[in-house]
Amino acid sequence: MLDWTDRHCRYFHRLLTRHTLLYTEMVTTGALLHGDQPRHLDFSEQEHPVALQLGGSEPADLAACAKLAQQWGYDEVNLNCGCPSERVQRGAFGACLMAEPGLVADGVKAMKDAVSIPVTVKHRIGIDKIESYDFVRDFVGTIAEAGCEVFIVHARNAWLQGLSPKENRDIPPLRYELVHRLKQEFPALTIAINGGIKTDDQIEQQLAYVDGVMVGRQAYHEPWQMAGWDQRFFGAAAAPVQSREAVEDQWLVYLEQQVAQGRPWSQAMRHALGLWNGLPGARRWRQVWSDHRLKHLPVREVARQATEARETAAEIARQHPAFQAPVDA
Ligand SMILES: Cc1cc2nc3c(=O)[nH]c(=O)nc-3n(C[C@H](O)[C@H](O)[C@H](O)COP(=O)(O)O)c2cc1C
Repeated sequence: MLDWTDRHCRYFHRLLTRHTLLYTEMVTTGALLHGDQPRHLDFSEQEHPVALQLGGSEPADLAACAKLAQQWGYDEVNLNCGCPSERVQRGAFGACLMAEPGLVADGVKAMKDAVSIPVTVKHRIGIDKIESYDFVRDFVGTIAEAGCEVFIVHARNAWLQGLSPKENRDIPPLRYELVHRLKQEFPALTIAINGGIKTDDQIEQQLAYVDGVMVGRQAYHEPWQMAGWDQRFFGAAAAPVQSREAVEDQWLVYLEQQVAQGRPWSQAMRHALGLWNGLPGARRWRQVWSDHRLKHLPVREVARQATEARETAAEIARQHPAFQAPVDA
């Protein structure tokens, strides 16, 4: 997710779940081929398994970037056919590629020929007012013939005119049944569903129909939820961490490493502000970590102030539950 799932965010999420596949932000082929490759591609060993998502449409460029993905150690390379932003449309990639399945197939084939890691595609169920199942079925069928075996399907249309990217994540209706139908019609393909899925029970319900679930905004805003996923969905014997305090401890070490490398801790910390969400005091904890006046302080000092603020608010909540509950909700 652009501006969200950078390497710091992924490192944080990896403290919570060892097995969930993590995705980078979309990186355009142009940025990779003509820009600062280490800035876009470098990541920590701890982030595995991690997929690089590409934005682009030119088969030769996609192949060159897939090679880079493999060289840098990514576990998967994914092609974005779901982004509706105008800037992306001007570049003739993202969701508008759904209108050109032949071009996507050429791109996928070029990528597959260039690398041995999985090449996957993320897409929508349709574009603009095309509501028919046949459209997405033919899209998947064409791309599958080119060798793609994994599809992540955001279960709503992209409306390419008149909606912002944010509106395009909320307004076009969700139609999960189309994604379920894809799995029925292409049982040999791996089909993952995406869009509006929040609770663990919803994830489990979806897994009765499809092979995987991609969770975007919910995972970002309520990261602690991921701490239960290794056991519930991946058959792990134990969760990677037992408490939010334990995550925070490990995260502070990472923040200090960032500072030691000359980066402000706030760059990474913004992705972890939801750690205590759902518990009393979470809002106060967030406020301290987001306070611009504290940005020059050492990580441990801000952590001390944030914990103190959180615990004080939690204590007040215990003493006055009716008064505090809505404040932190
Ligand atoms: C801030 C933000 C940035 C996003 N950037 C990308 C992106 O780079 N590539 C992509 O495939 N989807 C991107 N998305 C869409 C999400 O991957 C996902 O498809 C969408 O939010 C619906 O799933 P959700 O309801 O679980 O969040 C982005 C979403 C958000 C909120």
